[in-house]
Amino acid sequence: MAEIRIRNSGERITGEQNVRFFLDRQNVLYEHWEASKLPESLRNKFTLTDEDKNKILSTFETEITDLAGRRGYKTWDIIALSESTPNLDELLQKFEQVHTHTEDEVRAITAGRGIFIIKGDEQTGYFDVELEAGDVISVPETQPHFFTLMDNRQIVAVRLFIEPAGWVAQPFDDPAFV
Ligand SMILES: [Fe+2]
Repeated sequence: MAEIRIRNSGERITGEQNVRFFLDRQNVLYEHWEASKLPESLRNKFTLTDEDKNKILSTFETEITDLAGRRGYKTWDIIALSESTPNLDELLQKFEQVHTHTEDEVRAITAGRGIFIIKGDEQTGYFDVELEAGDVISVPETQPHFFTLMDNRQIVAVRLFIEPAGWVAQPFDDPAFV
């Protein structure tokens, strides 16, 4: 279950109803997939073969096609990051810069953990969404954000896209970022 931390106040928001209510108000899609559908051998595996990736995609085929049908995604793939990812530190440095996209950025976490840092409305400012397996989130198009890993530095997620040009990160230089 996702948890929220508001950066300006340090306030934490927990509990499914509260998290859903908060994200809904910030126009951030939040849904849940049953992560335990995944075979046990894949729940803690972060270096994946093509066969593993296909197994994850087929396990969640119903959820993926339902989400894609509702929201217009045309392609999807699996991203896996862990200490065994070459240049993980460099990659994270690149990720950890506030940016926007021309399409929404959707991630369904199937193993591990991660954080989206998102710019909320004026009153709220930046907030962290801490995600775990089963959490599905979509950052709206043009909303400033970035993604990073949590202390365990490992994650597997399904990414869904409308078109390749939409994923390009546009840097967003924000003096308000804390
Ligand atoms: Fe992004």
